[in-house]
Amino acid sequence: MAFEIKALPFTFVAHALAIVGAVLVLVWCIHFRGGLAWESSNKSLIFNIHPVLMLIGLIIIGGEAIISYKSLPLKKQEKKLIHLVLHAVALILGIIGIYTAFKYHNESGIANLYSLHSWLGIAIIVLYGLQWIYGFLVFFFPGGSTTIRSESLPWHVIVGVFAYILAVANAAIGFLEKLTFLENSGLAKYGSEALLVNFTAAVAIFYGAFVILTVVSQGPPVEDDYSYTAI
Ligand code: HEM
Ligand code: HEM
Repeated sequence: MAFEIKALPFTFVAHALAIVGAVLVLVWCIHFRGGLAWESSNKSLIFNIHPVLMLIGLIIIGGEAIISYKSLPLKKQEKKLIHLVLHAVALILGIIGIYTAFKYHNESGIANLYSLHSWLGIAIIVLYGLQWIYGFLVFFFPGGSTTIRSESLPWHVIVGVFAYILAVANAAIGFLEKLTFLENSGLAKYGSEALLVNFTAAVAIFYGAFVILTVVSQGPPVEDDYSYTAI
């Protein structure tokens, strides 16, 4: 399904929101929350890696991977390689990001997997991993037959969009959950940090929306060499 609207302007808005979202989450975790650390006696610094990698990795780089087919003036094969590499980076950063949430919980004596956010999170990363493996095997190496590729493509797009929307929704739940914890421990509800966290989540949601708008609108014309074609 593609609306008769050009995708390129949506990709520009998405890039701009990606930069704003990345800067905001870094300002939050480094300036307001004290920084990032893999090992520390202050366990919150270990947690801080989680939102940074989930937003910049899974959401922002994953979103750039999706829009790469419509945002880059390159040949189909080159875009395919960029799409799969960016998704691999998003997946790896997502896995490390989830690992840091577990590491923080384990080192702080907090239970694992008690929340809606954590259950959805596990489902999303598993689906994302399976989607990547299937995409790689069918569209890249060793590559399926023409029939398998053309029949798989609509499923690849719909499952990819499904996993991505769930990821953006779960990131929003994550921001909300963390901010609620902080407010319950005394953080001012109308203070600058609370506004910053809510604003970061809003930017993430708008970014996700523009990624989806790109998917449902039209890529470059099919006639030229830089075409957006079916498979
Ligand atoms: C799509 C992106 C995200 C995924 C897939 C994800 C996944 C997860 C998972 C699996 C856990 C469970 C760790 C455990 O049980 O030990 C977790 C914990 C947590 N995450 Fe995320 N996360 C994402 C984004 C975020 C963001 C952006 C924030 C913002 C601060 C956040 C905040 C939290 C918090 C506060 C916890 C600890 C409480 C809990 O387990 O629910 N998450 N996350
Ligand atoms: C978790 C990883 C992945 C996700 C979430 C994902 C998602 C998507 C989405 C949403 C689209 C539609 C883009 C659009 O129409 O604007 C797409 C297209 C596509 N993806 Fe993936 N993808 C993933 C991994 C891969 C991998 C590893 C390959 C292997 C090469 C691949 C190959 C393709 C191809 C060939 C298209 C069609 C492009 C076209 O119609 O011209 N994907 N993907």
